[in-house]
Amino acid sequence: MAKSRFEYVRNFELADSLVPGCCIVVRVDGHKFTRFTKTHSFDKPNDSRGLQLMNEVQDTKYCFLSITCLVPAAAFSAVLIFFSFSADAVPEQCAKAVMLEWSDIVMAYGQSDEYSFLLPAWSDLYNRRASKLSSSFASLFASSYVFLWPKFFGDAPLQSAPAFDGRAIAYPTPAHVRDYFAWRQADCHINNLYNTAFWSIVKSGLSTQAREFACERPLLQALAGTSAAEKNELLFKRFGINYNNEPEMYRKGTVICRQGELALTRPNARNKKARARAEADARGDGTALATHHVDIIGEAFWAQRPALLRPDG
Ligand code: GTP
Ligand code: MG
Repeated sequence: MAKSRFEYVRNFELADSLVPGCCIVVRVDGHKFTRFTKTHSFDKPNDSRGLQLMNEVQDTKYCFLSITCLVPAAAFSAVLIFFSFSADAVPEQCAKAVMLEWSDIVMAYGQSDEYSFLLPAWSDLYNRRASKLSSSFASLFASSYVFLWPKFFGDAPLQSAPAFDGRAIAYPTPAHVRDYFAWRQADCHINNLYNTAFWSIVKSGLSTQAREFACERPLLQALAGTSAAEKNELLFKRFGINYNNEPEMYRKGTVICRQGELALTRPNARNKKARARAEADARGDGTALATHHVDIIGEAFWAQRPALLRPDG
């Protein structure tokens, strides 16, 4: 940047680097999505098009295997080269676009109109500057949402510009990181159970009928005071819905992880594993992503992926 007498104004920019040695979570959240989803007539309580636009990831390994079985060797090479280039050039979904752009991200979790991205303790991305991290992630997420909209919504036009806010938080211990993700998944569960019951009542036209158990208030009014068990019972008895059979993407949200230990290795450390990671990144292998709709509150998920919370990668 050229020097000028005006440059002193730069000193007003405050340092906002997050403390070193801690995992960072960047969460992006849809701005006024209650209004946005209404304007665009999203299905209630869950619109699979909107959720897939944000988070569904195709298993590229599976695609490679299918191609291997179907085409002769020469054609296969050409298709493979084309496929790997096109997959990287045009990410399929918003969260994947963010994970492909910043390979330090080791995991993401999304539900409703929000996505959380986990950066490991060793990450030095943008010198850990909170505003740079949150604004970059939110910006690419929002532009990807617009860019990929027609793929999921077909001819339905975008009638307003979607926006996402962003925040970056450093968590001092692995236990805090786990509690953060547990908090977001519990939020998903509580809201989705409530919304499933709410919209079942509204769609059935029974909103003004009294509940047959607990109290005489109209169904919809009484819903707010019910326990999870009561909501499950209401869904089953009134509407024949077994909540446990609802799609896992709705009940649990979506987790995206990089595949393999190598992808979680600090890329700039001077060791053999790190060099292998850098080479894999250069080939495009280090960015293979997998989608899961699983429990992240309990032990199992984290026990299977110890590298996610390891301080040194
Ligand atoms: P701010 O984030 O504060 O700007 O408000 P917001 O209106 O985005 O609300 P919030 O982030 O708390 O909640 C997200 C809202 O998005 C939900 O309350 C729903 O109204 C809406 N939403 C998210 N996903 C869906 C969906 O799949 N279908 C429908 N119909 N609405 C959805
Ligand atoms: Mg929102």
